[in-house]
Amino acid sequence: MSPIRYQPGAEFAAQMDAADPLAHIRQRFYFPKDKPGEECIYLCGHSLGLQPKSVKSYLEQELTDWAERGVEGHFHGKNPWMPYHRLLREQTAELVGAGPSEVVVMNSLTVNLHLMMASFYRPTPRRFKILIEKGAFPSDQYAVKSQIRFHGFDAQSALVELAPLEGEFSVCPEDIEALIEREGDSIALILLGGVNYATGQLFDMAGITRAGHRKGCVVAFDLAHAAGNIPLQLHDWGPDFAVWCSYKYLNGGPGCVAGCFVHERHSRAWELPRFAGWWGHDEKTRFQMGPEFHPMVGAEGWQVSNPPIFGLAPLRASMEIFSEVGMERLRAKSIALTGYMEFLLHELKSDGFSLITPCDPGCRGAQLSIRLSSHGRDICDKLAENGVIGDWREPDIFRVAAVPLYNSYTDVYRFAQRFAGALGQ
Ligand SMILES: Cc1ncc(COP(=O)(O)O)c(C=O)c1O
Repeated sequence: MSPIRYQPGAEFAAQMDAADPLAHIRQRFYFPKDKPGEECIYLCGHSLGLQPKSVKSYLEQELTDWAERGVEGHFHGKNPWMPYHRLLREQTAELVGAGPSEVVVMNSLTVNLHLMMASFYRPTPRRFKILIEKGAFPSDQYAVKSQIRFHGFDAQSALVELAPLEGEFSVCPEDIEALIEREGDSIALILLGGVNYATGQLFDMAGITRAGHRKGCVVAFDLAHAAGNIPLQLHDWGPDFAVWCSYKYLNGGPGCVAGCFVHERHSRAWELPRFAGWWGHDEKTRFQMGPEFHPMVGAEGWQVSNPPIFGLAPLRASMEIFSEVGMERLRAKSIALTGYMEFLLHELKSDGFSLITPCDPGCRGAQLSIRLSSHGRDICDKLAENGVIGDWREPDIFRVAAVPLYNSYTDVYRFAQRFAGALGQ
């Protein structure tokens, strides 16, 4: 595909929208409105995705079954609740490039991270460290440090942090591999974000997995900012596990049920310790209510509780749209849309900000992180007053994502205009 020749001006955005084969999908989402009642320029799908209009009917179906059938809904509703989470299994597997038995939708992200670490972080006196990104999302830092302490190790010495070179924001792939090569013998677990939440850098997950496994480390990814943003091939890349949330690019709604991948090679790893609950027990004998835990084969064997149906129903509405569109087409639009945003921001020729997200489209997803030189908070507030929704990360980063499911080129154009205005241009 030849590179797009972006042009300044509203005309170009309109032409791109007219030629966009996914433009009609936007109509299937609700957009928040600004004070005068106009649709906001919503660029915050990296934080909370928009609501698909079909969510209500998915929820209403389950409310109706509950009202009309009570407990019988577990077996006799339109979508019986007993196997309800399986309605998401094929679509989730396809989304992350896994086999159906390698994925399960359950709990929330940090809870899944703990459950996975209970099984896969097995520190020994020689190999006890965990490699994470410096400045990883705080929940990951807290979870990892608490696990280290839980096993009786010192969080200070057991944490290896992957940092960019002085004065840079992205980490070179070669530096990641070199660090793993250098320290790998003492690393029990590598846990990196697929896409870094602050900078938007996309990591080479296949390469990191290979490098980690060569050194005997368990390799895992937090895909909060990658699921629904980047096409993933988890089975082939081969990490041991991965976790993600469903409220960002997956549009499952605030606090929606999260996802979890356990590689097939661990599907019958009965020897691993796990924090068990009845929903992970073999479903054939679950209701015999026996005292001994016999886990299900695959990722479902890590379930603990029976699933929240009202948490899963909205996600089904969104995943239907993902299945219809497909990650490949979304990614193609995403690259074009984010490239356009980058082009327009460069056109502003301002020294009031810089982009800290990698400029290579292969090393980023939808998000651009804009580092504001001064008065950043005021600029964001001004944008919010003007109907632009992005988000602010201390100390100086404004994050925006043009989400290919529902954002248009015109959204991006208008954002650049209002951003220029907020900068005082
Ligand atoms: C990278 C990353 N990890 C973990 C979390 C925490 O997720 P949860 O609160 O769903 O456990 C977030 C939330 O935004 C995140 O961005």
